[in-house]
Amino acid sequence: MTPLKLIEKAEEARLHSYSPYSGFKVGAALLCSDGTVYTGCNIENASFTPTICAERTAFFKAVYDGRRDFTAIAIVGGKDTPDSACAPCGVCRQVMGEFCGPDFMVYFPDGKGGIIAEPLSAILPHSFKL
Ligand code: THU
Repeated sequence: MTPLKLIEKAEEARLHSYSPYSGFKVGAALLCSDGTVYTGCNIENASFTPTICAERTAFFKAVYDGRRDFTAIAIVGGKDTPDSACAPCGVCRQVMGEFCGPDFMVYFPDGKGGIIAEPLSAILPHSFKL
């Protein structure tokens, strides 16, 4: 699957966002090695802390299904349209580090009309592991 197709799937996922507090809707599309895509959106909470990001929603759905073979993720976000800069947060990077190798690819908009494509090794160097 091309990065652009994966981004399209993240845009579809973003439509499911529950984000009444921030108004910032995020969607993620997580690609497995056999072409299966798991999607996720951010789901907020009045108590704020229980809020989950779109990326972790996608990862936890996939891991529940027994998947571990991830090759890439696309993330998009924004209040009105999905074209804001939307780099994954540190917590989500740590979750990627749990399940993905250094070559796992991460695609997200730079907020200026472009897409940033980085391997996990570039956006999560020296990750914590037990
Ligand atoms: N958010 C994500 O879904 N993914 C990220 O990597 C960063 C932030 C969500 C959480 C919250 O609902 C909203 O964006 C504003 O922080």
